[in-house]
Amino acid sequence: MKIAPSVMTCDFSRLDLAVTAAEERGADRLHLDVMDGVFVPNLSFGPPVIASLRPLTTLPFDVHLMVQDPLKLLDAYVKAGADMITIHAECSSPLEETLCRIREAGCKVGLSLNPDTPAEVLWPYLPLLDLVLVMTVQPGFGGQSFRPACLPKITAIRAECDRRGLDIDIEVDGGVKATNVRDVAAAGATSVVMGSAFYDVDDPTPLVTLTHEL
Ligand code: DX5
Ligand code: ZN
Repeated sequence: MKIAPSVMTCDFSRLDLAVTAAEERGADRLHLDVMDGVFVPNLSFGPPVIASLRPLTTLPFDVHLMVQDPLKLLDAYVKAGADMITIHAECSSPLEETLCRIREAGCKVGLSLNPDTPAEVLWPYLPLLDLVLVMTVQPGFGGQSFRPACLPKITAIRAECDRRGLDIDIEVDGGVKATNVRDVAAAGATSVVMGSAFYDVDDPTPLVTLTHEL
């Protein structure tokens, strides 16, 4: 599996160190959690911060938009340097139009589900997607506990993608760490986000190696 560290739990005054650590420790991409204080009860950062990090690494930027109306914000994130943009199925923008706009902008296209949203909500949109982001915590904060009840949803999404012959990255986000990453892989995920598990240890290299072996 691939690993995408999330800087959400890092010291925001030294995001540069978090970005370079991700690259040096063998991460595959950087997961950037954008929160608007409306869709989720927290604020993080926006396009100027992402643009300022862009020159620091060649890692792809995996931008997770936890915002109410992503359609009107897309251009700013594309300009800031996003390589992949994921919106939420629960947002208020028209989903198909927003997903198509992400594709037209030249970015990989992602759609995310909150823990309580059923897998079937994705089915009409699967042909438009490069990535499905399965939330295993309620979005808004890093450092929460993984919800094992979400594992069957990962398996259901994997089965539906296989049934249709679609090569879609299934990324899992929230509370993933060494003690549950095997379960996430076994359920059918192809990549994981790790915030606190990656950044709250002195050396995340063993975690990266373990993840890559799964
Ligand atoms: C939650 C974010 C996650 C989260 C990851 O709203 O989307 O990316 O911050 O952090 P951990 O791995 O600590 O749950
Ligand atoms: Zn995220």
